Amino acid sequence: MGYANLVELLEDIQLVYSKVEDLIKKVCSKKGEEHNECRQIVKEIKPKVEVFKKQEKDLTKYMLRTLHTDRLTAMGQMAAAISHELRNPLSGIKVAAEYLMRKLKDQPDTLDIVVNIHNEVIFANNIIANILEHARISKPSLEPASIKKVIEEAILTIGQQGSFNNIQIKENISGGLPILHLDMVQMKQVFMNLFINAAEAMIGGGTLKIEAYQEKDKIIIKITDTGSGIEKSHLVKIFEPFFSTKVKGIGLGLAISKEIVENHNGELSIDSKLGKGTVCTIVLPLPEKEEKEEKEEK
Ligand SMILES: Nc1ncnc2c1ncn2[C@@H]1O[C@H](COP(=O)(O)OP(=O)(O)OP(=O)(O)O)[C@@H](O)[C@H]1O
Ligand SMILES: [Mg+2]
Repeated sequence: MGYANLVELLEDIQLVYSKVEDLIKKVCSKKGEEHNECRQIVKEIKPKVEVFKKQEKDLTKYMLRTLHTDRLTAMGQMAAAISHELRNPLSGIKVAAEYLMRKLKDQPDTLDIVVNIHNEVIFANNIIANILEHARISKPSLEPASIKKVIEEAILTIGQQGSFNNIQIKENISGGLPILHLDMVQMKQVFMNLFINAAEAMIGGGTLKIEAYQEKDKIIIKITDTGSGIEKSHLVKIFEPFFSTKVKGIGLGLAISKEIVENHNGELSIDSKLGKGTVCTIVLPLPEKEEKEEKEEK
């Protein structure tokens, strides 16, 4: 089903729904014997309207998700193609800079400029490598995994980075959480993206709180920072590919993270108060019933 059909279907559902609601209001406000039969029919229609309402919500959610995924794929492919083409001229510049660096050993002033060029090329190459890597979000290869372990691996990897020096990490992960079905590599990437964003928002230092607990048939993971927060007008854009407020940001971290979490049938949402901090919430479903018994070690 394409977008056009979906939009049409949604409009139809909304129209039918509003007409039925009008009808219900009109019929229920009238008194008298002759309306009793109508009231009975309305009673039967009401639950169907509720189902309609739910379907409409599901469809809207599906549409928004498909739109996000399609745009991400299209932009990713375009970015990958451009990045690929940029690689050759860049490696030419890099080789030339390295040649000049050897030749200019005795002229420190000029050498500085060439070293600068060389560093910028390396930086550009890193961006390209990132884009090419992000453009390939494969389907998750799910296996039984401990969410605690994934989170802790991500903390271990990013904790070494200088940007975490002034940041206090508070970890509060419930013991004995059920084992989930995850792509460990992809989910680790998600946590790293969120932790790095948090650190980048707390340049002068702060606290990064990581909580994980079970709520009914879901696992909730909350990542809270005491950083700069996000402007209200930016909040609607942060999941868009290539939206970034950072000088050296690519703007793919959150778009990719959302995609990965949704590929795990989960949800990623972000709430923030400017000047106060940000809360990222990941909700992941538990595996099917028969596998639920398996628990992580305490
Ligand atoms: N924890 C946070 N605190 C404040 N702002 C945030 C936070 N997380 C995300 N943002 C905002 O959302 C934008 C998009 O984040 P995203 O991770 O997608 O891209 P980025 O960090 O700019 O670049 P990169 O692709 O390198 O991750 C950021 O530029 C920033 O403005
Ligand atoms: Mg980021």
